[in-house]
Amino acid sequence: MITNTELEHKGNLFPGKIVSFSQNVDKLNFTTENGVILQLTIIRGSVIRFRYATDNNFENDFSYAISEDGARGYSKLEVEEKDTHYEVITARIQLHIDKNNLKTTIFDLEGNVICKDDWGFHWEQSYEYGGNIVKMSKAAPQGECYYGLGDKPMHLNLKGKRIENWATDQYAFGKDQDPLYKSVPFYIGMYEERAYGIFFDNTFRTFFDFCNERRNVTSFWAQGGEMNYYFFYGPNMQNVITRYTDLTGKPELPPLWALGYHQCKWSYYPESKVKEVTSKFRELQIPCDAIYLDIDYMEGFRCFTWSKEYFPEPKRMVEELAEDGFKTVVIIDPGIKIDDDYWVYQEAMEKDYFCKRADGPYMRGKVWPGECFFPDFTNPKVREWWSELFKEIIAEIGVKGVWNDMNEPAVMEVPGKTFPNDVRHNYDGNPCSHRKAHNIYGTQMARATYEGVKKFAYPKRPFIITRSAYSGAQRYTSSWTGDNVATWEHLWIANIQAQRMSMSGMSFTGSDIGGFAEHPTGELYARWIQLGVFHPFCRTHSSGDHGNQEPWTFGDEVVDVTRKFVELRYQLLPYLYTMFWEYAEEGIPMLKPLVLYDQNDPQTHYRTDEFIFGNQILVCPVQEPNSKGRRMYIPRGNWYNYWTREYVKGGMEQWVDAELDIIPLFVKEGAIIPKYPIQQYVGEKKIDQLKLEVYYKLGNKEESKVYEDAQDGYDYAKGRFSLRSFSFTGKENEAIIQHHKTGSFITEYETIKIEFVGLPFKIKEVEIDNVKVSLDSIQYNAKENTLVVPSDYAELHIVG
Ligand code: GLC
Repeated sequence: MITNTELEHKGNLFPGKIVSFSQNVDKLNFTTENGVILQLTIIRGSVIRFRYATDNNFENDFSYAISEDGARGYSKLEVEEKDTHYEVITARIQLHIDKNNLKTTIFDLEGNVICKDDWGFHWEQSYEYGGNIVKMSKAAPQGECYYGLGDKPMHLNLKGKRIENWATDQYAFGKDQDPLYKSVPFYIGMYEERAYGIFFDNTFRTFFDFCNERRNVTSFWAQGGEMNYYFFYGPNMQNVITRYTDLTGKPELPPLWALGYHQCKWSYYPESKVKEVTSKFRELQIPCDAIYLDIDYMEGFRCFTWSKEYFPEPKRMVEELAEDGFKTVVIIDPGIKIDDDYWVYQEAMEKDYFCKRADGPYMRGKVWPGECFFPDFTNPKVREWWSELFKEIIAEIGVKGVWNDMNEPAVMEVPGKTFPNDVRHNYDGNPCSHRKAHNIYGTQMARATYEGVKKFAYPKRPFIITRSAYSGAQRYTSSWTGDNVATWEHLWIANIQAQRMSMSGMSFTGSDIGGFAEHPTGELYARWIQLGVFHPFCRTHSSGDHGNQEPWTFGDEVVDVTRKFVELRYQLLPYLYTMFWEYAEEGIPMLKPLVLYDQNDPQTHYRTDEFIFGNQILVCPVQEPNSKGRRMYIPRGNWYNYWTREYVKGGMEQWVDAELDIIPLFVKEGAIIPKYPIQQYVGEKKIDQLKLEVYYKLGNKEESKVYEDAQDGYDYAKGRFSLRSFSFTGKENEAIIQHHKTGSFITEYETIKIEFVGLPFKIKEVEIDNVKVSLDSIQYNAKENTLVVPSDYAELHIVG
C-alpha cells in the first residue's frame, strides 16, 4: 500500500479531512481542512456531477458539452451524516463520502458497489503553466470491462489500455493508434453485468488508464482545468448511454436524403467530371443521393470561393445536379488564406477574428492554401460571422450540406501537427490558451457551420459532417472517421469505430468506404460497402491518388454487389429513419455492439465484429479475403437468416455462409421490418406502398415501430409525423398484428403489403378489424406468403 505521504513526495496532493458540509437545493458542498471542495450536483436520481476545487476556489462554471435541453430533476434526495462518512441517497443510488479523505463510493440500492474511489481525487500543481494536473483513480475489480471513448481504433473492450484525448490529424492511422481526430472523454464501465458511465468533462489533453498501469485501478487525469465528471448509473448499459446523450445533447433529424448513399473523392473536378460520375450512377442504377466537392472546387483553396476554371457557374451546376436527384456537399476548412485581396480574410482581419499567439502576433500555419490564419471559433461573435458566410453557398447556389475538415485544427509541417500551446482563445468569455481550447475547436467550427447552414437552408434541414469532435458535437453534426487505409485491417477498424461512436453518443458516423489512402481490391471494396450500408453515415471517399474508387472501377461483379447493398439500404430507409428518430428522441444508439444488446450474456463482453443495426437486425461483416463465410456469435434469442430465411437459435458461435454477394444478416424473430421500394434517390418516387416483412415468432408479443414524416423540414416538430407501432403475437395456428398510428402526418401510401417469414401454417382465414375478408380481396399470394391490407387497419388476424 502506498500511503498518502509517499504520494505527496511524488508531487501528488490529496484532500484532507472534511471540515464542513452545506447544501443548496441540488448542490452539496464538502470542504476539507486543506481547502478542497467537492461539489456534488444531483442532476437526476441516476446522474450525479462531481466537481472538485483546490484552494477553496471553483473556476467559472462553463461547458461546451452540456446541453440545456437535457432532463433535470429528481424525486428523492436525502443526506445523512454518519460517524465515518456522509451518505447521499437518491431514488437510484447511494453515495458515501469518507470524512477522513473525501473518497467516494457509489452503491446501488441493494448495496452493490458500482464505482469506488481508489486514491480518489488528487492533483499535482503545474509549475510550467499554473493550475493543477487533476487526477482521479477508481478501484477496478477483476472482471470489470470498459467501453466508449469515441473513435479509438482498438478492441471495443478497453480493459488494459491507456488512452489519450488530443484531437489529431492522423493520416493513414493504424490499429491501436492513439490519439485520433476526436475527443470523447466518456466511458462505460461494467462489472457483474451492472453498467455505469463516467464523463470527464474537461477539454484539456486527457488520459484514461484502464488497468494498464495498475491492474486493479482505472484512472483518468487532465493536464489542466478541473476535476469535473458526471457519473451515470445504469445498470442497463443502454440507459447509461441515453443518460449521457441526454446530458450532452441529441441531434435533430437529418433530411432523409442524408441517410442515402454519398459519393466522394479528393477531388471531383471540373464540372464535366462531376457530371460524368453522377450520370454513371444513374446509368448503372446504383442509388446515390449526394456528391461531394473536395478542396479543388475553390479558387486556390480559399474557403467560400469557387474556381472559375473548373466551376464557372456553380449555381447552374448545383441546380442541374439537383434535377437529377443529387445534393451537393462542399468542403470548408478552418484555415483562411493570408491574402489581402480575399474577402473572407479581409473581413476577419477587420473584425479581429483570427487566433493570436500569447505575445500578440497572429497564429500563422500552413494548410492546403499555404500560409493561413484561423478563426477563433470559441468566440461567439466569430461563430456568428462564420455562419453568415454560408449565405451564398447555401441560399444562392443551393448547396445542401457542408463538410468540415482539418478542424483538429491541423497544421502542416510542424511538430505536433497543430497550434502551439500558447495560442489564445476566447472560449465564450473564459479566455484561455490552446491547451484548453484545442479539443473543442473542431466542434465549435462545426457548430458555427451548422448554424449558418441551418439559417440559410431553412425551412429545410441542414446537413453537416465533421472530422474533429468533442462530446456534444452530435447536437450539430455527423462525422466520419478520417483518413483510413484500403486494407482488410481497416475494415475491422471501421466496424469498431462506428460501433464505438454509437456507444459514445455520436451514432451518425461512418468510415471512408473502401479506404481513403491506397487502393482497395474489388473484393475489399465489396466487403466494405456491405458493411458501410449498415453504418448511419454511408459514403465512399478516397484520396484519389491511387486510382478511382467509384463502384464501376472494380468491374461488373462489384457493381452488382454494390447495387444490391445500396438498394437494400434504400429499401430499409424507413427502418433506418426510425432508428434515427429513436436516437434523436431518446439518445438510443443506432448501432449496438453485442455487449450493449445483451450485457447479461458474458459471451458478448469481448465480441467486436457482430453488431445490431437498430433493434432487430444482426450484422457481421466478412473481414478476410477469399472468404466463403465466417464464424460469428449469434446472440441469445431466435433469429432468421435474412438471406436463406432459415430459423436459427442464438447463444452460440456458428459458421455462416457468405459468398462475395452476401454479408451475414439475421433478423430477430417477431420483428416487423419496414421497407420502401427501391429508388435512385430519396424522393425519386412516390412511396405508393409500405412493405412489412413479418418474422414469425411463437409466444410473447414483439414490438416494432415505423417513424415517417415529410423527410425534410420541421413540420414534424408541430406533430406532423406518423408513428406506427406494430406488435406481433404468434400462436401455433394463428397470428395477430396490431397496428396503432399517432401523429398527424398522412403517409402517401394507402396500402401495406405484408410478407410473412417463417409462418408455420398456411393462411386459411383472415380478419381485418374483426371483419372476415376473402383472401382474394387482400391479394393473398400463397407462394410468397404476402397479402395487402389498408394502411389504416388496426388489427390483422390470420388463422391457419
Ligand atoms: C483530409 C481529409 C480528407 C480530404 C483531404 C482533402 O485528408 O481527411 O477527407 O479529402 O483532406 O481535403
